[in-house]
Amino acid sequence: MDKTIIARSAVEMEEIGIDLAVNLSDGMLISLVGPLGSGKTTLVKGIAKGLLITQVVISPSYLLFRSYQGRLTLHHLDAYRVSSLHELAEVGLDLLLPPETGVSAVEWPTRVEGIVEASDILVRIDLLDDLARRVSITS
Ligand SMILES: Nc1ncnc2c1ncn2[C@@H]1O[C@H](COP(=O)(O)OP(=O)(O)O)[C@@H](O)[C@H]1O
Ligand SMILES: [Mg+2]
Repeated sequence: MDKTIIARSAVEMEEIGIDLAVNLSDGMLISLVGPLGSGKTTLVKGIAKGLLITQVVISPSYLLFRSYQGRLTLHHLDAYRVSSLHELAEVGLDLLLPPETGVSAVEWPTRVEGIVEASDILVRIDLLDDLARRVSITS
């Protein structure tokens, strides 16, 4: 699948995530590529809603990752401060790329070699203006 959607608000970005969640199953890896403030975390909030997760999803930036329970477990990773797969392996996070159970959504996947290539779904977000984002989804 290859599709491009324009999200004109954070709410519309969440809706894209909700729609994505329907087709997720155990073991899937999702890469979210896009500049700071483009809406990667917002889209993951939508995925969480779609997976019937009721916990509040916050950016995992300072913790590397957070996991949430819903229809499937959602592992939300932020690789911004990571420089190698070895570094992730030292704390066992390589086991989430992809995960055995649940799905992993990774922000800044390009920081670590191989994550984008291993992904089942690649989401690319471009800033068009203050509110509009172009969201390209490849799976
Ligand atoms: N169309 C849009 N899609 C997503 N976020 C938007 C949009 N328009 C405005 N925003 C705002 O931009 C910010 C995106 O932040 P966030 O999702 O944390 O981005 P990232 O994780 O990519 O750094 C939020 O404050 C959100 O409300
Ligand atoms: Mg983020």
